[in-house]
Amino acid sequence: MDDHAEFLRERQTNSAAMAKDGKVAELTRDWIHATAEHKYSYNFDWCGLPIIQYPQDMVAMQEIIWDVKPQVIVETGIARGGSLVFYSSLLGMLEDAGLATDTRVVGVDIDIRPHNRTRIESHPLAKRIELLQGGSVDDSTVAAVWDLIGDRSPALVCLDSNHTHDHVLAELERYAPMVDVGSYLVVFDTVIEFMPEDAYPNRPWGVGDNAYTAVQAFLQAVGEGKITDRQGREMAFETNFDIDNRLLISVAPSGYLKRVA
Ligand SMILES: C[S@@+](CC[C@H](N)C(=O)[O-])C[C@H]1O[C@@H](n2cnc3c(N)ncnc32)[C@H](O)[C@@H]1O
Repeated sequence: MDDHAEFLRERQTNSAAMAKDGKVAELTRDWIHATAEHKYSYNFDWCGLPIIQYPQDMVAMQEIIWDVKPQVIVETGIARGGSLVFYSSLLGMLEDAGLATDTRVVGVDIDIRPHNRTRIESHPLAKRIELLQGGSVDDSTVAAVWDLIGDRSPALVCLDSNHTHDHVLAELERYAPMVDVGSYLVVFDTVIEFMPEDAYPNRPWGVGDNAYTAVQAFLQAVGEGKITDRQGREMAFETNFDIDNRLLISVAPSGYLKRVA
């Protein structure tokens, strides 16, 4: 085994052991809960726009984008646009490296506030960003996303809008078929399931009703052939637990889904 392969093997072994360490798991859960009360995920910018993510998840997305080399990235939930600019910057990097051409980022949000739209549309990295205002599971929105994807491939999808079980499951049913085999469907805020029962007093989601429970229902339905692609063909997705093991601190545990068939 060469040195690089040996390094990766050792890293996988170490991170799997770390993820099984009960003390680390407890500290991680406590840390995420304590800092969420201070809105930790609101603390960061990407190229000047607020990105409501944990830095760890952004590093994981960079790894996935380098691996998949998507021609289009779709995200539901835009907020202040930092994540769209993040994806645009990485697709621009792929283009500069000669690894992709004519790339696009498609952002969907039910409420694109005028000042956010202005900041996103006037950003130096806006040229490959398309904004769609509408409910993410509305038929007209989903049809518009398919149109913007066109024949671009591979497509990568990130879900980060309303985090209730029913909404995320409805998104999964509609957006999973957009993901090409070998690419990823990333579901953010699955971490809600692992927080204390009273962690989200003013939100429609909470323990037992969130993105994680939706992912579990989705994987079961896909496995039973109840959710298929647009041609009615069966699909298969696998959770990338290696990413979870290495990040630990993440809003998307069990949310990095690779389409394998
Ligand atoms: C967590 S924020 C998105 C954060 C963003 N992805 C980022 O990384 O900076 C959630 C966004 O989802 C949007 N949203 C909520 N319900 C929605 C729905 N039904 N359809 C589309 N967007 C929705 C909200 O308006 C809000 O901007």
